[in-house]
Amino acid sequence: MKAVIVCTSVSHGNTKRIADVMGEVLEARVVEPEQIDAAELAAYDLVGFGSGIYTQNIHPRLRRFAESLPEGRYRKAFVFTTSGLPEPPFRPHTRSLARLLERKGFDVNDTFQCRGYDTWLPFKLVGGIRKGRPDATDLQAARAFAEGLRARTLA
Ligand SMILES: Cc1cc2nc3c(=O)[nH]c(=O)nc-3n(C[C@H](O)[C@H](O)[C@H](O)COP(=O)(O)O)c2cc1C
Repeated sequence: MKAVIVCTSVSHGNTKRIADVMGEVLEARVVEPEQIDAAELAAYDLVGFGSGIYTQNIHPRLRRFAESLPEGRYRKAFVFTTSGLPEPPFRPHTRSLARLLERKGFDVNDTFQCRGYDTWLPFKLVGGIRKGRPDATDLQAARAFAEGLRARTLA
C-alpha cells in the first residue's frame, strides 16, 4: 500500500503530531502542501489531508492545494483536523474539504478529529485551553484510526 499525508500545522504542531502517528502506521511520508506535486497523488492508494482549524476553517494553504488538484481518477483519501473546540454538529470541520476532495475524484469515507492546545484569542488571555492535547489517549486514537484505514485499504 502506498500512502502519503499532506498536513498544515502552523500553530503548535498539534496536527503534525497526529499526522506523524498516522504516518508511522501507514508507512507514509508526512509533507506540507508545497512539498508534493499535485499530479503525484493519483499514484497513491491512500492520501491523508490534515489541518488545524483556524476561524472555523482548515488552513488556506491546504485548501488551495486541494483546489489546485486536477479532477481525475484518485483512490482513497481521509481528512483529519485538530481544534480547540469540538466541531459544530451542523458544520463538521472536515466536511467542506471532504466534499471538495470527492468532487476531485477521491473516495473519502474516513475522518478523524481531536482537540489540540489552543491559544487563539480570547483563550490566550487565560493561558490557552486544552493544554497537553493531543495527549497519549488522542495519539492512541489516531493510531487505532490509522490501523483501521490500513486494514480496509489492504483488504
Ligand atoms: C488564529 C487561530 C484561529 C483558531 N480558530 C479556531 C476555531 O475557529 N475553532 C477551534 O475550535 N479552534 C480554533 N483554533 C485552535 C486550533 O484549531 C488548535 O490550536 C489546533 O490544534 C491548531 O493546530 P496546529 O497546532 O496543528 O496548527 C484557532 C487557533 C488559531 C491560532
